Amino acid sequence: MEEKTFLRRTIRQRRRALSQLEQQQASFSLVQNIKKLSELKRFKRFAIYYPCNGEISLLSLLTHLKKHNKIIYLPILKGKKMYFMRYEGKLKKNRFNIPEPAQHFQKIHPSILNVIFTPLLAFDDRGNRLGMGGGFYDRCFHYLSFRSNKKPLLYGVAYDWQRISNLTPNCWDIPLHKVITDQRIYDFYEH
Ligand SMILES: Nc1ncnc2c1ncn2[C@@H]1O[C@H](COP(=O)(O)OP(=O)(O)O)[C@@H](O)[C@H]1O
Ligand SMILES: [Mg+2]
Repeated sequence: MEEKTFLRRTIRQRRRALSQLEQQQASFSLVQNIKKLSELKRFKRFAIYYPCNGEISLLSLLTHLKKHNKIIYLPILKGKKMYFMRYEGKLKKNRFNIPEPAQHFQKIHPSILNVIFTPLLAFDDRGNRLGMGGGFYDRCFHYLSFRSNKKPLLYGVAYDWQRISNLTPNCWDIPLHKVITDQRIYDFYEH
């Protein structure tokens, strides 16, 4: 079996096996760490995701951001493409059973967003990201690889045990600027 396929399967199994209490505690610590970021005060437009299959949850961050009058976006999948849509409260499930914004506002370019928090299966010490294998984030942020304006900032979020020593990136993989876990904040300054 290909190494990445094996890694994806192993991590998904481990994530699904977490108890509700473990998930809640990790999510609480993660959001505490995110709240330490100065970007949260400085910026206005944030994209998050709706947690599925044991992904570490950002739902309490959503409440926090709303309270502070931030504008929140969630991803929408259409075929092989991913867009970000403003989230105003109503959700409906997509083909992967993931809730998406039900109300459709005008389509935006992702470069108007300040920070995108992305889920992942594994990350390494250089900010490489292993996703579920759909390549949605890589396609959506392909433009970042040839633009000097690094907008938005891509921040991965994960359980700390999802860090592995070395991922071999493919040429299309878009690296992360930071990863925030339940244990710490990793900065990848080189890009
Ligand atoms: N910029 C892109 N243009 C076209 N296809 C892409 C692009 N980025 C990624 N892909 C496709 O997405 C697929 C999955 O990418 P991969 O990096 O393995 O998944 P993930 O990032 O979800 O872990 C790849 O087979 C690749 O062909
Ligand atoms: Mg990739």
